[in-house]
Amino acid sequence: MLTGKKILVGVSGGIAAYKAADLVSRLRKMHTEVHVVMTKSATEFIAPLTLRSLSANPVYVDMFEEPKLWNVEHIALAEKADVVVVAPATANLLAKMAMGLADDFLSTVLLATRAPIFVAPAMNHAMYHHPATQRNLKLLQERGIHLIGPDSGFQACGSEGDGRMSQPEEILQTLVRFFVGSSQLKGKKALVTAGGTQEPLDPVRFLGNRSSGRMGYAVAQALQEAGAETVLVSAPTDLPTPEGVTRVSVHTALEMCDEVLSRFSEMDVVVKAAAVADYRPAVQAEQKIKKDGSNRTIELVPNPDILAELGRKKTSQVLIGFAAETENLLANAQEKMLRKNVNLLVANDVTQQGAGFGSPTNIVSFLFPDGRKIDFPQMSKLEVARHLVTEIAHLLGVETKE
Ligand code: CTP
Repeated sequence: MLTGKKILVGVSGGIAAYKAADLVSRLRKMHTEVHVVMTKSATEFIAPLTLRSLSANPVYVDMFEEPKLWNVEHIALAEKADVVVVAPATANLLAKMAMGLADDFLSTVLLATRAPIFVAPAMNHAMYHHPATQRNLKLLQERGIHLIGPDSGFQACGSEGDGRMSQPEEILQTLVRFFVGSSQLKGKKALVTAGGTQEPLDPVRFLGNRSSGRMGYAVAQALQEAGAETVLVSAPTDLPTPEGVTRVSVHTALEMCDEVLSRFSEMDVVVKAAAVADYRPAVQAEQKIKKDGSNRTIELVPNPDILAELGRKKTSQVLIGFAAETENLLANAQEKMLRKNVNLLVANDVTQQGAGFGSPTNIVSFLFPDGRKIDFPQMSKLEVARHLVTEIAHLLGVETKE
């Protein structure tokens, strides 16, 4: 399943570096093309010659030594890799990645590559649990970097705890799952809405909401990673468009409604993560409204309920809705699921700490019309999105080979 893949293995300086030899050897046995980049301190734990012999390719350590090939090597390696795996990833390397530092060959490659990155942390348990390391890991996950492990158990320093690097076999299995998953939704078309719509009052003011768009952007990224051709209809946000996703920018609920409905018939899956304004001002003033000291009343008229409209129109599409609630989460969410005729509803209580608008994490439940319910613990929005993609694949009847 990995045949022909170009895999760049980064090795940083921890005792677990010796396991990189086993990883590289297993990757070669799976007919991959392996290139190894080591940090200087990694070479204190394992000889570059070992990894050169096992990978059958030159090993890169120093940015400035004689070029082994005629191109800018760190950029060339970064560009041609299908995937980058850092094993072991020390606390120091993770901190550099989180900061975006590029002061040696490996950190430069990690900044230059657009390939998916996997990291297998390896460190002493106190270093692993340090708030700085935990924050760095969280930040990297939010950026879409995949975390493998760490395991827990006996550590080289003599103590027990979390922080041991995952076994090479587990790293390999994660890569296999990733490559199988990345073709899971190939040939499928997906549309995601994200962000909070803005309903203008006059040329400088609007009625809006607190949605950051993060959840919808994470869903678009996860669908794209799974191979779906993905369109993101987005209300204004500060977020970059995920790689490979086509973004259509809108401001109002009416604009979003047009963009979604006009594409609906050609879609296999639609995920409505946007926070759509239920009402808009009846009148949009052509000039800036001036104050005169008196009370004002804004008349509001209802916007279309886009999701309910899709629920009425749907034929074979898989339709996913979100429910942001502040009270009676399950009852409200269940009622929405049925009223809007969705195949799956993602319910979250936006008042909970670590969930809802603006938060990088979410705490959600998936509800299905047949009464099934899956509760998830707090996790990054990207992890929620990846779980959602797994369910979407099931709903589309896509076989998952593991
Ligand atoms: N939604 C929509 N169009 C609207 C309002 C909501 O498509 N005009 C979608 C949202 O994108 C979300 C789902 O409906 O997927 C539920 O949104 P939510 O705001 O939780 O519910 P509402 O239907 O607006 O109900 P209420 O505001 O009364 O809770």
